[in-house]
Amino acid sequence: TMARTFFVGGNWKMNGSLESTKQLTQTLTQAKLDSNVEVVVAPPALHLLTVKEQLAGSKVAVSAQNAYHKASGAFTGEVSVNMLKDASIPWVILGHSERRTLFGESDANVAEKTAAALAEGLSVILCIGETLEQREANETVNVVVRQLNAAADQVKDWSKIVVAYEPVWAIGTGKVATSEQAQEVHAAIRKWAADKLGKDTADQLRIIYGGSVAAKNCKELAQQPDIDGFLVGGASLKPEFVDIVNANN
Ligand code: G3P
Repeated sequence: TMARTFFVGGNWKMNGSLESTKQLTQTLTQAKLDSNVEVVVAPPALHLLTVKEQLAGSKVAVSAQNAYHKASGAFTGEVSVNMLKDASIPWVILGHSERRTLFGESDANVAEKTAAALAEGLSVILCIGETLEQREANETVNVVVRQLNAAADQVKDWSKIVVAYEPVWAIGTGKVATSEQAQEVHAAIRKWAADKLGKDTADQLRIIYGGSVAAKNCKELAQQPDIDGFLVGGASLKPEFVDIVNANN
């Protein structure tokens, strides 16, 4: 899609053991991955450094699934963006719908975390997306624009952000957005970026799709002009992830 490097992320969520994770990284290091695709996997925080070590020398980078914006202190249970930087973890996923719904993260929280991560030199996969109720009320574009505006209030430089559009109704449901539905929202996001951040930023911004992406639906989605890759949940735990990385082949 234009000059934007195709990006495929695997969000492992709260899954895997040390043993299963080792199998998965072995699959990835042994697979033939499209050299034109940027590939990132996000294991649980406990597994980050082990996975990073297992993937060393491969083209697959690692990402955290969340981080806290304060550098250090009395924040029991949290991992800071500074700690990720210290451990050379280059990416962090922020604002995933599970963080927003299950753990009460607001647009402003997500924006604050995004700004803090970028300030530490991390790259951010910024997740946005509407619920089924919002889609049915024709609120989809309003919702994603609201989420993006909150981030834009605190972030000026978007060059290290990948926007992940993940309609909540498509996450873990097996109900993938059609390529037309996804393209329509991706185009609206790019238009927002052009209006708000300027045409150059909009042209360079990677907007990836997440929500029940699988080997069987990835090729059609990948052909859409404004879909620049995927954020994959369930299928990223399976060898099928390789086929998704290679969706453009
Ligand atoms: O972050 C990726 C995710 O939320 C999509 O999950 O299982 O529907 O691919 P899944």
